Amino acid sequence: MLADLTHDGADLTGSLGIGHTRRATHGEPNDINAHPHVSENGAIALVHNGIIENYLEIKEQLAQQGVTFTSETDTEVVAQLLEFHYNECGSMLEAVGRVLRRIEGSYTFGIICSDYPNALIAARKDSPLILGYGENGNFIVSDVTAIIKHTRDVAYMNDGEIAVLTENSIDVFDAEMTPLEKEHSRVEWDVTAAEKCEYPHFMFKEILEQPEAVRKTVSPRVRDGRVMLDDITITADYAKSISHIYMIACGSAFYAGSVAKYVWEQLLRRPVEVVLASEFRYSEPLVDENTLVIAISQSGETLDTMAALREAKRLGGRTLAVCNVVGSSIAREADDVLYTWAGPEIAVATSKGYSTQLAALDLTGLYLADLLETVSREEYDEILTKLQALPEKMQKYLEHYEETQYYASLYFNHDSIFFIGRNLDFVMGLEGSLKLKEISYIHSEAYASGELKHGTISLIEPGTLVVALGTHGPLFDKAISNVVEVKARGATVLAVTTEKFREKMEKTADAVIAIPETYRLLQPSLGIVPLQLFAYYVALQRGCDIDKPRNLAKSVTVE
Ligand code: F6R
Repeated sequence: MLADLTHDGADLTGSLGIGHTRRATHGEPNDINAHPHVSENGAIALVHNGIIENYLEIKEQLAQQGVTFTSETDTEVVAQLLEFHYNECGSMLEAVGRVLRRIEGSYTFGIICSDYPNALIAARKDSPLILGYGENGNFIVSDVTAIIKHTRDVAYMNDGEIAVLTENSIDVFDAEMTPLEKEHSRVEWDVTAAEKCEYPHFMFKEILEQPEAVRKTVSPRVRDGRVMLDDITITADYAKSISHIYMIACGSAFYAGSVAKYVWEQLLRRPVEVVLASEFRYSEPLVDENTLVIAISQSGETLDTMAALREAKRLGGRTLAVCNVVGSSIAREADDVLYTWAGPEIAVATSKGYSTQLAALDLTGLYLADLLETVSREEYDEILTKLQALPEKMQKYLEHYEETQYYASLYFNHDSIFFIGRNLDFVMGLEGSLKLKEISYIHSEAYASGELKHGTISLIEPGTLVVALGTHGPLFDKAISNVVEVKARGATVLAVTTEKFREKMEKTADAVIAIPETYRLLQPSLGIVPLQLFAYYVALQRGCDIDKPRNLAKSVTVE
């Protein structure tokens, strides 16, 4: 590790540095392809987030002029191009400007040059970049958690802006090199929230933090028995004009949107479509001013979600972001933003990020249903009361999760695991299955139980592990029938149900995990917790790198 190699930084002299923890997007993840990348004469070094799309063309031109490349990366091409322009114009800032006009793609750069030993140049386009104003030096980061130990005074860079940092100053310019005044923000996150403390993994800590995170997301928005979303400017008139709702997101955030679709359609009586952001952006979506587009993103920096949000805005839709990171790009670009107050999430696999997205979407659904008058007073009161009680119920389950740990120790050796369920159990299973595959590397898929007969059941053979989800009360009997169906083909069944149905389920399934009961539309908020823990303990048994699964990054700022 770098910390060991440098004796915790003690071997590093000087007052200026750049570093990067990025995984390779071009070439093998090895030392040669790792950042920083240096120009041929060794004078210019840079780190880069993003992808340079026209790098091959530039690489060829530079190679023809005799430049030799040492790595396979797109980033080295930028270092070499900088050297070329710097030699041409003699000004580093001017050279950066010329390079930015030449390259295509997304980037955040941190650039240093041996001719300017006290200065660092930073620039961004479609990739996060935050300036940190410290008492003993200044910083650039792509994620605020990296600097909150040093400063909470930050400014968010916009696309096209360039910053020049020294120990005592930060100057920011627009693309035409006109100086800009940046608005400062204060990061409120607690330092210990970004530390592992006594926990073995961030993921475990974050799973246990969920009751508190959900409480922080919900409580401040409930006053006198009503949901008050002061941050949202949607009026009753606009709400009544909504003809279509899209939820756009990636990964787990997409699965949170998939749960919300069921909840919102029940509450709002309006069609809700959940679309993967990477598909939405290229699908010529049917969006107009009566379309409400909800962009869901923990980091607020996911490139595809950002691009989909921009596309929705371009088409005239109204946008609302559900984000966790204050000041993130998606939060800043959407018409309205509702923050999930989960605090910093460090583990790559989301847990509290997802739970707070569910809670924020439940709140928003209830708020809009109230504006639209599509929910009865009794139902509204019941849902809101139960939403407020979720943290307590999550806590109750978290105090007795040993059975989940035990089942993980029984089943961790399976090569392939299926999740089945209907309605909200199906969409909850999608997230449970993603959790398992991303951290334990076990092949896993989630199916709507009703689809089993249409093909999937042929995959069930003696010993196949099926995680059967039966927490959705109205369809419990059907859940039992599906358990019987897969057991008849020899499957081993681990079922998740509510306390009320535990006994019935125990008569059929091989193993049962029971969770507390809540309002049926909110049940996935409780049901997901054992699935997260199951994935966690299975990955632990298999010796996986839980917080940093292979090939994955916390914030996906490339396409
Ligand atoms: C899975 C996971 C990812 C993210 C996805 C979107 O555990 O964390 O699937 O949910 O990359 O990230 P955000 O929410 O930051 O847009």
